Amino acid sequence: MAKAQTQYVCQSCGSVAPRWTGRCNDCGGWNTLTSETVESFYGKPAKSGKAPKLELVALDGVVDHTPRQSTGSAELDRVLGGGLVEGAATLIGGDPGIGKSTLLLQAACLLSARGMVCHYVSGEESINQIKLRAARLGLSHAGVMLAASTSVREVLGLVNTPNPPQLLVVDSIQTMHLDTIDAAPGTVTQVRACTHELIQACKKKGVAVIIVGHVTKEGQIAGPRVLEHMVDTVLYFEGERGHSFRILRAVKNRFGGTDEIGVFEMSDKGLTEVTNPSALFLGNRNQDVSGSAVLAGMEGTRPLLVEIQALVAPSQLATPRRAVVGWDQARLAMVLAVLEARYGIRLSQFEVYLSIAGGFKVNEPAADLAVTAALLSALADKPAPKGAIFFGELGLSGELRPVARTETRIKEAEKLGFTTAYLPEGSVTGTSGMTIRPLNNLFTLADYFELENKPRGYR
Ligand code: TYD
Ligand code: MG
Repeated sequence: MAKAQTQYVCQSCGSVAPRWTGRCNDCGGWNTLTSETVESFYGKPAKSGKAPKLELVALDGVVDHTPRQSTGSAELDRVLGGGLVEGAATLIGGDPGIGKSTLLLQAACLLSARGMVCHYVSGEESINQIKLRAARLGLSHAGVMLAASTSVREVLGLVNTPNPPQLLVVDSIQTMHLDTIDAAPGTVTQVRACTHELIQACKKKGVAVIIVGHVTKEGQIAGPRVLEHMVDTVLYFEGERGHSFRILRAVKNRFGGTDEIGVFEMSDKGLTEVTNPSALFLGNRNQDVSGSAVLAGMEGTRPLLVEIQALVAPSQLATPRRAVVGWDQARLAMVLAVLEARYGIRLSQFEVYLSIAGGFKVNEPAADLAVTAALLSALADKPAPKGAIFFGELGLSGELRPVARTETRIKEAEKLGFTTAYLPEGSVTGTSGMTIRPLNNLFTLADYFELENKPRGYR
């Protein structure tokens, strides 16, 4: 008989402690430990009889079919690495209300229209609520089978049959529970055990399973590491409140790249794909104002043009305010320090605000040059060159460094009607109709904005 044991599990990081403490030793979270009873594996006697034999298979055999099924949504396919893989376990995380259930219901309907048998199990909504949602999305005649349950044992019953579905959606893992485990639904122990059971059963039967996971206040899926290493693919569905676009991002993918994103727009008809996100993010741009520059960025293999806005205002404070939305605060501090130390452009008396228009988040170093252009333009109160895009990494000695995929960035900018590209010297540009302005340092830009002639003592 297995021995029952009480242990204290941190609900934030999943670490286990033998006794309760007010603060988790690993992640430092306060009051995150709760007691959970687990059956100890150590107490189990070894099974008698012959040791089981493991069968070996040669690697060089022929795979008899491609186990990938296109979902019918190009954005979703890209993030999944080309389609849904048979028997793969996918975890999709995101804030409550961001649209996870909507996305998965739409995906299940698309797949069932392609002849796949899809089961959608919800622990959060009743069958009627799901049907109402489907009706609102115009999907009520899709062949998806629905179930409302919070018991993993019941869900496993759907898989362990002679005719299991090809896709199983479990919405959400925090509502599921296993009756063998004495812990509340949503605790790390329950979430981990439920995920394990689901994945084991689905892998055995070749059922693709998509599990919804809610994100904690800190932006992590409850029991973050423990869940992420159990599944094949981890996707995050994100978006800003007040903006209608949503981004599906792959953070782990055993069957594809992890730097891909899919862009969707939430409307009253559910989520629609955005095939040209650059146009969306540059939508309401006013070219004649100062403090704005366009970054020709990359998200995975796909180019994405976004507008970077800066505001520079004189400050009375001893430590002027710096506020950043959508970019890295430390990176902004670095750019400001380089401007001051290497180019004598002093911003230490000014408040600096930086924002990526549209609420998008940029995290590639190639944004340095566009940020610098926006800052200089704001400081000089002179609009950036018309029809110009910027990209390039700024080094600590003030030099500009080439970044990857120059040609792709330029091509996208040209497609959207831009005419000039400011980029680091030494970038491989290929042929295009754009005017290329290679830069070695920031002097040319500073000259363009006539910063040395400014009366307010900028230099
Ligand atoms: P939902 O998929 O329930 O979010 P999650 O499962 O991530 O918690 O999405 C709910 C939100 O989406 C809700 O705020 C309303 C909005 N929504 C629309 O704007 N249009 C629609 O057609 C649907 C179905 C939802
Ligand atoms: Mg939901």
